Formats: sequence, C-alpha cells, structure tokens
Amino acid sequence: MPVPQSDSGQRAYNNDRAHVFHSWSAQADVDPIVIDSAHGSYIVDADHKEYIDFSSQLVFTNIGHQHPQVVKAIKEQADQLCTIAPAYAHEKRSEAARLITSYLPDNLNKVLFTNGGADAVEHAIRLARLHTGRYKVLSRFRGYHGATQTAMNVSGDHRRWKNDYGTSGAVHFFGPFLYRSQFHATTEAEECQRALEYLDNLIAFEGPDLFAAFIMESIPGTAGIMPPPPGYWQGVREICDKYGIVMICDEVMAGFGRTGHWFAFEEFDAKPDLVTFAKGVNSGYVPLGGVAISDEIAARFDSTPYPGGLTYSGHILATSAAVATITAMEDEAMVDNARRLGNDLFGPALRDMAAKHPSIGDVRGLGCFWAIELVKDQETREPLGAYGTTAPEVKELVAECRENGLVVFHNMNRIHICPALNIPDDVAREGLAILDRALTGVDQKMAVQ
Ligand SMILES: Cc1ncc(COP(=O)(O)O)c(C=O)c1O
Repeated sequence: MPVPQSDSGQRAYNNDRAHVFHSWSAQADVDPIVIDSAHGSYIVDADHKEYIDFSSQLVFTNIGHQHPQVVKAIKEQADQLCTIAPAYAHEKRSEAARLITSYLPDNLNKVLFTNGGADAVEHAIRLARLHTGRYKVLSRFRGYHGATQTAMNVSGDHRRWKNDYGTSGAVHFFGPFLYRSQFHATTEAEECQRALEYLDNLIAFEGPDLFAAFIMESIPGTAGIMPPPPGYWQGVREICDKYGIVMICDEVMAGFGRTGHWFAFEEFDAKPDLVTFAKGVNSGYVPLGGVAISDEIAARFDSTPYPGGLTYSGHILATSAAVATITAMEDEAMVDNARRLGNDLFGPALRDMAAKHPSIGDVRGLGCFWAIELVKDQETREPLGAYGTTAPEVKELVAECRENGLVVFHNMNRIHICPALNIPDDVAREGLAILDRALTGVDQKMAVQ
C-alpha cells in the first residue's frame, strides 16, 4: 500500500513499522493500510479513501463499525464504572450472561467470561478435563481454535505445526468436507456416515476412556466455511454420549448471527455441553469471550472451587458492550437479516459467479458467512496454491479488490465473504461487483499459464 499523504497518517505508518510486531507475519512483509475511522460497512483510511468491509475485520464486527447504540453504551459505562474485579457482581456483567444464555439450549445456564476466543477454548477444555478426569481431546483437521497453547494444539491448520510439542493430548481427525472428501464419498449422506464411522473407529483405537472432549467449530470458519452435512452433529452427540465425552461447539467465529442463527449449531440441531464464543458477542468493540457451561458440568463446581480465572473476566466495558450489541441485534432483527442476505443475495450472486469464473471451484456458506475456493482446474480441484501458502494470484486478487475499495478475508486459496449482518443490499451488491471484476483477472492469468 502507498504510505499515506497526511503527516499524521505517515507518523502512524512509520511508528507501526518501527514498533508494532504483527501477528502471523514475516515482519518485513507487513504493509498495513492506516485506518482513521470506520462507519457501518465501511473502513476509512488516512487519506479518506473508503473501503467496503467484506471481512468484518477478523470476522467480528457483526453489527458493523461504530454502531451508535453500542458506542453510547460504552461511553456511558466508562463514565460510571470502567472496571471491577471478577469477584464482584455487576448489573452489566450479569445481564450479559443472562442474555447470552437466553439464546442457548435450556441446559446451558452459566457463563465463564474470558478476554477472547482462545482463552475461552482453554477454559472449555479445562472444564471438560476436570469434569471427566481424562485428558485427550478430539479436534478436526481444517479447524482453528486460537493461538494459546492448548487452543493452538487442538487447531487443525498449518499454524499449529511450529507450536506443537506433542504434549497436549490433542488427537486430530478428518471431519466431513465433501468437496475434498477424505472418504471417497460422492454424496453428503455418504460423507456424513463415513466420517462418523471413522471417528468412532479412531476413538476405539486411541482409547475411549482417555477422551475428555470433542471440540469442533459448529461450522469451521477460517479453515474454509464448511457446513457439515445434515446428521453429522447428531452422530457426534451419539458418539460423545456412548463414550462419556464432553461435546464442545466452538462458536467464536460462527456465533452471534453470522450464519443467520444466533448460534450456528442451531442449523444442525446440535446439543453441546459447552459453547465457546467471542468476536460477535459484542462485535469486538471491547475484547470479550467466554464459555457457556451445561448445568451438569457447572454443578461439579458447586462445592469444589474451579481452578482457573482471569483478572479481567467479565470486564465491565466489554460486557456492557455485549448487552448493547445483543440489544441492537434484537431491535434491528439482524439475525433474520443475515439469513435473508444469505438466501436472497450472497448465495445466488456467488453461485452465479462460480458458474462464470473458471477459477472458482466451490462456493459454500450461509447467512453472512461464505467462502469461494479458487482452483487451478475445476475438474481436478487442484487448489490455487499449495496447502499453507497463498498463491500470487490470490494476493493480486486481494490487492485489486483493495485498490477498488473492497476488503475481503482470505486464507490460502480461499476468499471469504463475511460482511456485517446489517450491510445494506446496495453496498453488498457493489462489493460483489468489485470482487467479480477482480476474479476475471484471476481467470485470465490462469488461462495464460
Ligand atoms: C473458531 C475460533 N475459535 C477461536 C478463535 C480464537 O479467538 P481469539 O483470536 O479471540 O483468541 C478464533 C479466531 O479466529 C476462531 O475463529
């Protein structure tokens, strides 16, 4: 990106490059856009250029940027009380917990608040281990659960490789993913049945009595937005019940309306024992995450202290932002709107794009949660770029979109379209048109190879 024109923009850029160590990056390659402000579905750079935000940043600004009701709630709360230790009760903390559990199944009534998603996963696994007295954890390849130690070890993507010391009890399995089936399946029903049979066998050979938890994103997000086939989550529930394994649905990315449901597992009628959440709970306006805990697991700690906690658990600014966010989502029917956008706008438009661009191998998703998978050849499905890498064509596509005022989330050979749940239809169409034009460039590059 060009360095901004304004003095303040240049200062921000230069200080960033001199002093900010960026996550997941080779530092010399980092070249950030300097952002000055944001509103609704737009972010605005230091030279006042506006970009449509199809990324919701890291898929967290579910209500868009600077929602006035939430900004007001944070300001008012800051005036009254910024922070108080977890041991005290506070109106906003308890109301946030009540509201969150009101959207969960009847057996989930307590929340342990954390600062974000990874620590929610750490605590969910700790709860499961303490509850069962076992240590192994099942998690899928093509999944992501966060960058702290256990969360990273149960993650199933290439970012784990350099962080894994083999001491975590993590056992990875292949989940269902028909487009790249590990089970030679040709239908969703076959994929589901074979993935479940394999999971059951894996547990039998790994020692059924050793498993504390099964963790999976209700719909794996960063790894490719892969809705599991109907029946898969029910099958997992049966397997978990058979072996006494705690079932954890990770809703950090898919939760809070993203899929057109408050929680993505509703799409599959899944019945988790623990639910991890973060991001959309308050659209990331103030860092917050948590674990919702079943009555059975919570009861274990009625008279035995839970050996874990965080200084900022249930931070008052964060939980007041959660109350305001959930209220705004209710007032503006944003979850229904996300479902409508998926069914009537994003789904049809992206499928039309797939029909026209030879570089698109697959389109998947629902609500405001979509992935397009770029391939070298639609027949062979060979990904555009090796696993764990980003092909130059994908980098160029992302740069071209940016140049034309659109930011998208990308991961390896995929572009993810994850706008705010309240993106206006005309802005959504404008963003899709920019993406469509940029994809034509990818088609042309592939054609000359
Ligand atoms: C499904 C899922 N779980 C956990 C995490 C980790 O959350 P955080 O980055 O807030 O620690 C993420 C982050 O993207 C995620 O997508």
